Amino acid sequence: MQKILINCIIYGVLWFMENFSIVLAVCRSALQNPTDALKRHVERLVKALEKQGSADQASALAKLLSGADQGGKIVPSRVVLSRQALVGEVMPLSILPPVDKETGASLATVLLPSNLKAIEPPILNESLQAAINSLTDEWVHLDRLKEAGIKPPLNCLIFGAPGTGKTKLAHVVASNLDLPLVTARLDGLISSFLGTTARNIATLFEFANRYRCILLLDEFDAVAKIRDDPHEVGEIKRVVNTLLQCLDERSSTGFTIAITNHEQLLDSAIWRRFDARIFVPKPDAISRQRIVDKYLEALNVNSVERSFLAWLTEGHSGAEIETLSNALKRHYVMRGDTEFSLIEALRLNVHLSADHVNSARRKLFLSDHEALARVLIEDTDFNFKQNELAQFFHRDPSIISRWLKRSKTA
Ligand SMILES: Nc1ncnc2c1ncn2[C@@H]1O[C@H](COP(=O)(O)OP(=O)(O)OP(=O)(O)O)[C@@H](O)[C@H]1O
Ligand SMILES: [Mg+2]
Repeated sequence: MQKILINCIIYGVLWFMENFSIVLAVCRSALQNPTDALKRHVERLVKALEKQGSADQASALAKLLSGADQGGKIVPSRVVLSRQALVGEVMPLSILPPVDKETGASLATVLLPSNLKAIEPPILNESLQAAINSLTDEWVHLDRLKEAGIKPPLNCLIFGAPGTGKTKLAHVVASNLDLPLVTARLDGLISSFLGTTARNIATLFEFANRYRCILLLDEFDAVAKIRDDPHEVGEIKRVVNTLLQCLDERSSTGFTIAITNHEQLLDSAIWRRFDARIFVPKPDAISRQRIVDKYLEALNVNSVERSFLAWLTEGHSGAEIETLSNALKRHYVMRGDTEFSLIEALRLNVHLSADHVNSARRKLFLSDHEALARVLIEDTDFNFKQNELAQFFHRDPSIISRWLKRSKTA
């Protein structure tokens, strides 16, 4: 079989040198399990290329051959094995993303693994993190699943409220797999010209399928949203059908992650295409505490104040906690270490984050410290102690004790 394949390559494909990348990809996957006969045939191909003056192509194939000769000497990592289990070429460092043929707008941005290394993972609750780890593990051990004849799930849909760390999570998955991340640019993809959106989607998937990479469809609902336009019925059908076809084709080719804040807008047929569907909720009390600790690491804020911030930010997304932390850091820098007061900084911040003014916890904080102390002492997530509250409110412990007693007698 391999002999026939190589003969075809020698006598047929040489005439179509613009398709040499396909020849290279076929040889690369064939040489992952090299036999002596296969290597001889590839050597013949190298010689044939040299003879006809295609030195670059000959040298690329010769490199593959020398790599195959070293096979067995170096034990590749699991991530390398996983990448080899994917079809497609290795993405060149100088890759240019695909473009809209009419407008020239980029259809995607490409981040190479070296650009993804510094990304820190979002802080997620324990059970969600465990589930994501298990999915990533399957992707890292793709070769093992394939050997066992099990079709691994290669795509997943991540959904949840804005600012919960979904995009960051996708970047971290790509970094863990050491694969380039191709992020669709929906502004370039969606075109007002009839038929162009569907064609752009097909071009994007073709690009992603050619290389070993993760395809990220961020803000995925934008494609679904065009359904809102009553004049666009035919076009939408075309777009959704193309998307379905492309997703089906890609499901056995490479990893796809789609992200949305509006999962209810997705066509049910598209929704069903995803083997894994991950809901990223707003952070729970423990995660909020970890997020506050992370973002306020550099600030001289004691542990009671941090716990209070974690309590106060119930219902906030990770991004909102990050924004609040940045505001506190700015305040800290302006006031200096001795002048900084967390309570004062939070009061000022209320007007800078007006969307949260109606939070019951914020209202309590702004209106009545005595009532606040009573709520805090009864909170089972953070278990504030009386002496901690005294420290937080800058009051004598006896005053806190009086506040709390008053609540019992009231
Ligand atoms: N759980 C988290 N832990 C730490 N940081 C977080 C968390 N969630 C969000 N952030 C921070 O918030 C910012 C925005 O995160 P990201 O863009 O990943 O959110 P998103 O869910 O994709 O938001 P959107 O739906 O608006 O696109 C990032 O800088 C990230 O560091
Ligand atoms: Mg996002």
